[in-house]
Amino acid sequence: MKSPNINILPDLKGISHAAAAEFLKIGNAAIEENDRFTVALAGGSTPRKLYEYLASDKYNSDIDWEKVFFFFGDERDVSPASNQSNFKMASEFLFKPLGINKSNIFRWQTEIIDAPGIADQYEKTIRKFFGLKAGEFPRFDLTLLGMGEDGHTASLFPRTGALNETAKITAANLVKQIRSFRLTRTFPTINNPANILLLVSGEGKAKTLQKVLENDFDAEKFPVQCIKPENGKLTWLVDEAAAQFLK
Ligand code: 6PG
Repeated sequence: MKSPNINILPDLKGISHAAAAEFLKIGNAAIEENDRFTVALAGGSTPRKLYEYLASDKYNSDIDWEKVFFFFGDERDVSPASNQSNFKMASEFLFKPLGINKSNIFRWQTEIIDAPGIADQYEKTIRKFFGLKAGEFPRFDLTLLGMGEDGHTASLFPRTGALNETAKITAANLVKQIRSFRLTRTFPTINNPANILLLVSGEGKAKTLQKVLENDFDAEKFPVQCIKPENGKLTWLVDEAAAQFLK
C-alpha cells in the first residue's frame, strides 16, 4: 500500500496553520476550476483552532467565502443549539465570525425526531446539491476528519453497523459505546473526495495512531484505517505528541 502522506507539526497550532493553508490552496483551486468550493467539516475539538484561524485576519481575506459551501461529516443526535453540536461549534468559530450566508451551510436537521429520519433527510440534501443519480456518491473538494482515541473517524465507531454501509451516503449509527445514535457519512462517501485532511493532536492519541499506521489492518477495530480515498489525496496532519510512538 502506498505509504500515507504524514506531516508531523510541533503542536496543535502548527497543525491548524498547516490545515488553514491547505484549506485555502484547495479551496481557491476549486473556485478557479468550478466557481465553488465544497467542504465537509469535521467535528470534535481538534478542528476548532483551524476554524478560528480561518476566521482570523491572518487568513479570512484569502478566499471568496460566498463561493464556499459547508457540509458536516457527522453530527451528534442533539439540537443545533446544544454545546455537543458540531454545527454549533462551527457556527461559533467559523460561520458567525465570517458572516457566512445560511444558504452556504448545509447541516444535519437534528431537530427531526428520529435519527434515521435525520440521515435520510441529509442524504436527500446532498443528492440534490450535487445532482447525484442513484448509486452515485458526492465528490467534495475537501473533507476534514479527526480520529478518536478508539480509532473512530467521523461517527464510524469500532464494531458499529454503519461501517458496513456501502449503498447510502449517510447513516444513523447506533453507537453502543456511548449509548446513543450518531449521524455520519459512510465510507463510500468519505473516501470519494478530491482531498482529505486528517487532523490528530495530543499524546492521548499516540498509542492508537501508532497501531493505526503501523499495525495490521483491522477495519472493525480501527475504522480510521479504512480512510483510503479512491482517487483523492489523503494527508495526515499530526503533532509531535500524537506521533511520539511512530517508527
Ligand atoms: C465528532 C467527530 C469525531 C472527532 C473525533 C476526535 O463528532 O466528535 O466527528 O470523529 O473527529 O472524535 O475528536 P477530538 O477532536 O475532540 O479529539
